[in-house]
Amino acid sequence: MTKYAKLTIDGKEIELPIIEGVDGDKGIDIRLLRQKTGFITYDPGYGNTGSCKSAITYMDGERGILRYRGIPIEDLAEHSSFVETSYLLINGELPTRDELNRTSVQLNDHSLVHEDMQNFYQHFPRGSHPMGILSAMVNALRSFYPELLNTDEGFEQTFLRLLSKVRTMAALSYKISRGHRVEYPRPDYTYCANFLNMMFNTPVKPYMVRKELVRALNVFWILHADHEQNCSTAVVRSVGSAQTNIYASISAGVSALWGYLHGGANQAVIQMLSEIHEKGVKIEDVIKRAKDKNDPFRLMGFGHRVYKTYDPRAKIMKKNCHEVLNRLNYQDPLLDIALELEQIATSDPYFNDHNLYPNVDFYSGIMLRAMGIPTNMFTVMFAIGRLPGWIAQWRENMTDPEQRLARPRQVYTGYAPRPYIPIEDREPVEC
Ligand code: ACO
Repeated sequence: MTKYAKLTIDGKEIELPIIEGVDGDKGIDIRLLRQKTGFITYDPGYGNTGSCKSAITYMDGERGILRYRGIPIEDLAEHSSFVETSYLLINGELPTRDELNRTSVQLNDHSLVHEDMQNFYQHFPRGSHPMGILSAMVNALRSFYPELLNTDEGFEQTFLRLLSKVRTMAALSYKISRGHRVEYPRPDYTYCANFLNMMFNTPVKPYMVRKELVRALNVFWILHADHEQNCSTAVVRSVGSAQTNIYASISAGVSALWGYLHGGANQAVIQMLSEIHEKGVKIEDVIKRAKDKNDPFRLMGFGHRVYKTYDPRAKIMKKNCHEVLNRLNYQDPLLDIALELEQIATSDPYFNDHNLYPNVDFYSGIMLRAMGIPTNMFTVMFAIGRLPGWIAQWRENMTDPEQRLARPRQVYTGYAPRPYIPIEDREPVEC
């Protein structure tokens, strides 16, 4: 039976239906609020606004819980692979052995990118940020692969194409940025092993794919695979709501992810730690700046819109990071700085009172660095990981009968009506 919330506005009481989700998730359905009262809701940044019902990912920011399709992130990180987790997110269930094998074969079949695409890469100015290139190239996929079949089979082909090709495109852009020969995907390598090989194999220095790095990369991408209605996913859904094709929608998501308050934070963390290391900036001064209301600086890799406790992904990432550095016998002074920074920040009343803890980006860059991934590729790594989430969410949005064109409203605060003044009658503007 539907429950209702009562709201009194201007002396008039109205009832708004309550929506109950799983595990305590609840909302108030305000769809008829404006029609019944003339009021809209005001919620910059949508911190209290549910834009959809979703069966993909569950998050509890107070308890630090994250589950994909009901399965805890800890279990997936421990036992699953990125390909299997992608299948789970997109199709809703874990694959059978046959389904997983078939997916791997198809990912291999779709792993090449059109040779003409390489021309585009060659003509971006040197020094272009790989996220700008990735966003443009994902959009360009629509021109190279125009057939978007409106069937389950057609959708499956498109999502496999995206998952496989975007990974190849990322490695390709790195090779071209270095002026190196492009390394093609190999059919005998798994998804993650293939990526590492495409990144690092050269004709003069064969790359030995190490299985512990393949595992670490699987975990890294599993941790990033979805995070319900985060900024980039909300963008993907929003663009898709205009019936825009999946490539253009995901290209917009890549652009949103690029920002340093979102996926770009993993690059910003390394820049912050490097400054402390190279320029001798004191950790205490960094903390002081982060707390200063008159300084826009923030402690990068700290804080989250939803998590008000330790990000469960950050816990796993920290462990993953330690393991990779140990296995590679790689000493990184930035790890020591990060550990000290975390220790000082988490015992500081400002960070405690504001519920600021390390997020997934705090330790990820240190691990990627040890693996040989250049800093400007960090957010691209995040984007590859987030692809299955974007695809699953785009599809859910397109098939949800309650979804409409995304179109927020506003409370207008500009001029009241006023007449147009011909240019000859306007006051000259002082320079
Ligand atoms: N350092 C210092 N203070 C912070 C930080 C931080 N990293 N994050 C939030 N705060 C403070 C704000 O100054 C504000 O203080 P006030 O209430 O005293 O004015 C308060 O905490 C709330 O901040 P908001 O910006 O309103 O919180 P919001 O939920 O919008 O921000 C965000 C979340 C953007 C992630 C923020 O914590 C931040 O900027 N973190 C650093 C960037 C970062 O690591 N981004 C990655 C997030 S994870 C991801 O997207 C993959």
